[in-house]
Amino acid sequence: MNILVLGSGGREHALSWKMSQSPLCDNLYIGPGNAGTSSVGQNVVLSLSDFEKISTFIIENEIGLVVVGPEQPLVDGITDFLEEKHKDLIVIGPGKHGAILEGSKAFAKEFMNQYHIPTAAYIEVTHKNIEEGIKHINNNKGPYVLKADGLAAGKGVLIIKERKEATTELRAMLSGKFGDASNKVVIEEFLNGIEFSVFVLTDGSDYVILPQAKDYKRIGEGDTGLNTGGMGAISPVPFIDEAMMNIVEETIIKPTINGLSDRGMRYQGFVFIGLILVDNSPKVIEYNCRMGDPETQVVIPRLENDLVNLFVATAQGKLNEQIIDSKAETAATIVCVSGGYPESYKKGYDVKGLQKIKESIVFHAGTKKSADLDNNTTITSGGRVIAVTSYGRDKDEAVSKSLRSIEKIEFKDMYHRKDVGFDL
Ligand code: AMP
Ligand code: GLY
Repeated sequence: MNILVLGSGGREHALSWKMSQSPLCDNLYIGPGNAGTSSVGQNVVLSLSDFEKISTFIIENEIGLVVVGPEQPLVDGITDFLEEKHKDLIVIGPGKHGAILEGSKAFAKEFMNQYHIPTAAYIEVTHKNIEEGIKHINNNKGPYVLKADGLAAGKGVLIIKERKEATTELRAMLSGKFGDASNKVVIEEFLNGIEFSVFVLTDGSDYVILPQAKDYKRIGEGDTGLNTGGMGAISPVPFIDEAMMNIVEETIIKPTINGLSDRGMRYQGFVFIGLILVDNSPKVIEYNCRMGDPETQVVIPRLENDLVNLFVATAQGKLNEQIIDSKAETAATIVCVSGGYPESYKKGYDVKGLQKIKESIVFHAGTKKSADLDNNTTITSGGRVIAVTSYGRDKDEAVSKSLRSIEKIEFKDMYHRKDVGFDL
């Protein structure tokens, strides 16, 4: 089967790396991909917003399976578009109707309330009931959690200690701080606890649970400083045992999948559920309609199953016949970023030393091949540049291996955290 992966991050490199190992995979294309994906498949120049061009590519290259990496094209309806045009095509990623689980925080909260899925208490605020929002802030103590309803490139959640600042930010959000995404704001109860994530592959009625993971979101050591897309991750999560996974499955995963099917929300793809343990009870922080980045770089390397086969089973309604088999070892990934990230940073620096890495897997993110004559040099082209994944008997061993491998990598202003895996 010919396969097209859409996206250009470390997540897409990890998905492509895994699928390229499948006997079911004939030709693998990644659009637009990065310098790393070109070593497991063929990069193609595609824009994720140009659905027509993607559709033409699918016809010309007899693609049978499309895996959509990031959320924006899913929320924009790429799956509905491609399924309408290509009758036998398998698309992994929900249609617009399902992607709204991530595309609207207000929708996700209302959905969780209907199906009694544990989550923070909340109110929904728009310009019409702004006074109610301000009253809510005045009547409750902080920290205040303000969330832009729509997609805001991971920046739409503000956690604010001071009442006055929360009121000011609420007004700013409703006046377009995050564009249309914050025309509606969800104000949530602040939950204090430790976060982790679970990943489900579903056809909207059956599902399989992939290895869990924990990511380290902040730029600084000790989880301090600005929020990022993710600076590292580990899988499995030491404090999550089988009993806790059973609770997550019964109280969160099953009601979520039942809710999708009860509402007739056709859903074929990943549900990434961000969770927080409050007094040992898991609650949902957010749903995503795709895999996580950098969580994929630890979840997928632990997966023993043939990923292409799992996708085909999803499309054929045969997920109930699949048993997920994961490596007992721990996987850890550490992300090397461009100095300045997640704020402004420079691009175009040579990345050296990658070929010296022997005991880790290198997943590329913001990299591309230089346009020089030899086209063999890798240069930086984004904030998160490389994720280095290693296996170990435990997280400490896996993290140490990745740190040793990273010592071999060089690019100007490179930065990474040294404490990925530490207990929060
Ligand atoms: P989200 O984009 O919904 O994942 O939120 C980004 C981050 O904000 C989460 O990973 C949490 O660390 C934090 N967060 C979101 N909602 C809450 C909440 N209700 N209480 C405490 N922290 C939260
Ligand atoms: N690492 C968090 C995310 O992919 O949303």
